[in-house]
Amino acid sequence: MRLVPQRTFVMIKPDGVRRGLIGEIISRFEKRGLNIVQLKMDKLDRNRAERLYAEHKGKPFFEELVSYVTSGPVVAMLVEGDDVVSVVRRMIGATDPKEASPGTIRGDLALSKSENVIHASDSPEKVAYESSVFFP
Ligand code: PPS
Repeated sequence: MRLVPQRTFVMIKPDGVRRGLIGEIISRFEKRGLNIVQLKMDKLDRNRAERLYAEHKGKPFFEELVSYVTSGPVVAMLVEGDDVVSVVRRMIGATDPKEASPGTIRGDLALSKSENVIHASDSPEKVAYESSVFFP
């Protein structure tokens, strides 16, 4: 029996797209041996942004987060590979780039906790939920 490889959801945020980091980020995943199995440039409206970040509704940064993530195009993708949910989370590094280790995407490419270049699902349940905002 062949095991189905795991998938995760990744979004390059508006600052990552604006700064021309799409190729750099995808290249890191490919070099690691992960496969990009779906890819889409998209622009979130308020409604979809609130759906994507529903778990943070009511937090002090929620309005700032929604307004930032709707400020320009994003790149959404599904990435496939062995244990990919935790592998990609380790590759992107800590949410606050100042705490992210060098060698991680945020540790190398970002400095701001609000504009931190990339998002990735933190559990298989979130992969299904977050993917549905982009790949219904
Ligand atoms: S929490 O409350 O600990 O769960 O929040 P945290 O993990 O720190 O952050 C969750 C996501 O919100 C983003 N964030 C912000 N965006 C805009 N402005 C501000 N001030 C801000 N603070 C946190 C943070 O980048 C996380 O985004 P994702 O896409 O989930 O990594």
